[in-house]
Parts: sequence; structure tokens; C-alpha cells
Amino acid sequence: MADENIVWHQHDIAKQERSQQKKQKACVLWFTGLSGAGKSTVAGAVEQRLHEMNAHTYLLDGDNVRHGLCGDLGFSDEDRKENIRRVGEVAKLMVDAGLLVLTAFISPHRAERQLVRDLLPDAEFIEVFVDVPLDICEQRDPKGLYKKARAGEIKNFTGIDSVYEAPDNPEIRVENGDQPLSIAVDQIIQYLEQHGYLN
Ligand code: PPS
Repeated sequence: MADENIVWHQHDIAKQERSQQKKQKACVLWFTGLSGAGKSTVAGAVEQRLHEMNAHTYLLDGDNVRHGLCGDLGFSDEDRKENIRRVGEVAKLMVDAGLLVLTAFISPHRAERQLVRDLLPDAEFIEVFVDVPLDICEQRDPKGLYKKARAGEIKNFTGIDSVYEAPDNPEIRVENGDQPLSIAVDQIIQYLEQHGYLN
């Protein structure tokens, strides 16, 4: 919380002005799901499609952000909470810059996702649940992390010994089990078009 002597300065150019000549309406597409569900893959493919449509986007990805901005954080509940808080604030700044922001974080707790939702006006937070059952994520195990978690070599692994709270009412739910990636991508692009996010 800012000190009472720090006063918000309202500038003349705001997000509407920053994005009005662009393809996109500024908002956050918040991807959530288990490790191995394919959040980064789906978000990356959606960003690619948006890029081809001349939308100005930015993708914030969990693994990447943890190399820099959140490099000091681990996977305790407290650290995950701080991770999501920081990413939420950064995403909010990017929305203010007029961008269509995509984020790919496990973001396992409903409370933290709600905190980010509450940072933004209603229409600017779009929760995308990448819904893949744990057993399929574990079979895929693209980074070998489930195997390590089962062997006790990684503690607090989501879905194994750390909780994942699935969204109750996400704006978009995509299945990314055995269906082609393009179906999930089409579904998300269609949502954006139908709800007026792409001019
Ligand atoms: S969180 O929960 O939102 O703060 O996590 P996030 O920043 O998205 O980071 C998830 C990626 O970190 C790797 N990893 C772990 N995931 C879950 N639990 C534990 N203990 C863990 N340790 C490392 C893993 O590669 C996650 O990437 P994805 O893309 O989700 O598989």
C-alpha cells in the first residue's frame, strides 16, 4: 500500500488512447492450469494468431518471469502468492499501456486469481482455464518434474503435494488433452471477436 503522501498523478493519455488505433482492446487473458497442461503452448499459439491479425500483445510466462522479476521466489504458498501479485501488477501496467496481455502461470489459488481480477475493470480480466486432468499432465511430464516430485526430489509440486484450485466460473475453458491445439486457439480467438476485443 502506498504511503498517504504519495498521490496518484492522472495523465492525459490513458489506455483507451494508447490502444484505440490498434487492433486490440486492452485486456488480460489469464491462463491457469496444472504444470504440463499446455498453458504456454496455448497462450503462445493464441499470441501468434493475434500477431498475424496485427494485435499488439505481450506474453508473460511463468518459467520466464521466474528467471528475472520473480527470480527470488520459490513454490511455497507465500512465494506463489507474491509471484502472482507481482505478475498481476505488471499485467495491469501493460493493460494501461494498451496491450492485449497473455499470462501463463499455474496460479493455483482462487484467492490470488481473484486479487488480480480485482485489480482490473471487469471486462479487462479474462480467465482461461486450460483443463487437462492430472493423470494426463503426469503422463506427458514434458520436463520430468512429476517424476521428480513423485520421487520426493521436488517439494510442493502442484497436484502432487501442493494444491490446485480449478476455476469455478472461468470466462473460457479449453480442453487441451487429446484434441488438436487449433481447437483451443480458435475457441479463444472466437471469444475475443464475439466480445469486441478485436476491432
Ligand atoms: S505459480 O504456482 O503460478 O507461482 O507457478 P509458475 O510461476 O507458473 O511456475 C510454474 C513452473 O515452474 C516449474 N516448477 C514447478 N511447478 C509447480 N510446482 C513446483 N514445485 C515447481 N517447481 C518448478 C514448472 O516448470 C512450471 O511450469 P509449467 O509450464 O506450469 O509446467
